[in-house]
Amino acid sequence: MKRRILLLSALAVLGAATLPTYAADKIIVKIAGMKPDGEPETVGMKLFAKYVMEATKGRYDVRVFPNSQLGKEDAYIAQTRRGIIQMCATGTQTSSLFPAMAMLETPMLYDSLDHAHRAMNGETFKLINKGFAEKSGMTLLNAFPLGFRHFYTKKPVNSIDDLKGLRMRVPNIPLYLEFAKQLGQSGQPMPFAEVPAALDQGTIDGGDSPFADIVALKMYEITPNITLSGHILVIHGLYINNDFYNGLSPEDRKIFDDAAFRSAEDVWKMAADVEKKAIEEITKGGGRIVTPDAAFKAALRKAGEGTWELFAKTVPNYKEILDSTLQYR
Ligand code: G3P
Repeated sequence: MKRRILLLSALAVLGAATLPTYAADKIIVKIAGMKPDGEPETVGMKLFAKYVMEATKGRYDVRVFPNSQLGKEDAYIAQTRRGIIQMCATGTQTSSLFPAMAMLETPMLYDSLDHAHRAMNGETFKLINKGFAEKSGMTLLNAFPLGFRHFYTKKPVNSIDDLKGLRMRVPNIPLYLEFAKQLGQSGQPMPFAEVPAALDQGTIDGGDSPFADIVALKMYEITPNITLSGHILVIHGLYINNDFYNGLSPEDRKIFDDAAFRSAEDVWKMAADVEKKAIEEITKGGGRIVTPDAAFKAALRKAGEGTWELFAKTVPNYKEILDSTLQYR
């Protein structure tokens, strides 16, 4: 142990950031995320931590930092790539490193959670992920849903025309900016953690989020109109620094892989329940839920499919990825 400590101190001086930290013979793994406690992303991280610690009988001390505690998403993704922390949970923010990752959240593609679940456990996930690790310095271990995105707005939205011209918060991701453009909105890019302040200060007219976020941040108190558009299924996943992951023994790597799979399956199972409970809570809290009619749905589909042009320009195997989802209908 003495030799190991000496070696680690020497390497720390040399700035070898990708080595894990050892505390009393435990290997510390830090995972950062952006969502508050109780949301599917945080539940997924915590379950992963539990499964790894159980299977390794505490040899690994997996520490979870939700709610942007280690910085906003772009900051902690950079920390994971550099090995300052070992893991993070995020979504299609990683498309800035590898454009195909945006296709995890292809708008208006999935008929249901089950359809997406099968695609994420099958060829679609593999095709999207192919080449990502080499390009980014991180490996994506799994994919789990945060829920379908719905619009939350100050004004009631009953048709596609009501969405036009609104200042809507979007994540700083090209796909989302493109979707806002297709809808004739003024997309206001900002990190997730800045949304509550922007709503309070009135710098935005609304945005779009899964129910889990709408409920956790009580968005319906300021923007009470919730339009059940379901235009994008948000898919997050656990990303792990390549040097750390490839440095694990084959046995430990299997434990990490199994824990990632199991925790994602748990989140898929809870997803439908989250939606049901959220509707009750929003209605109780004074929110008004609007279900789009057929014409509105068709217009949303047109706008969503309009964004696929972006994939045609940036993702060489985009057609193969889209086609692969058909077999999971
Ligand atoms: O997967 C991308 C998604 O996380 C971005 O949305 O609203 O969580 O920032 P948001």
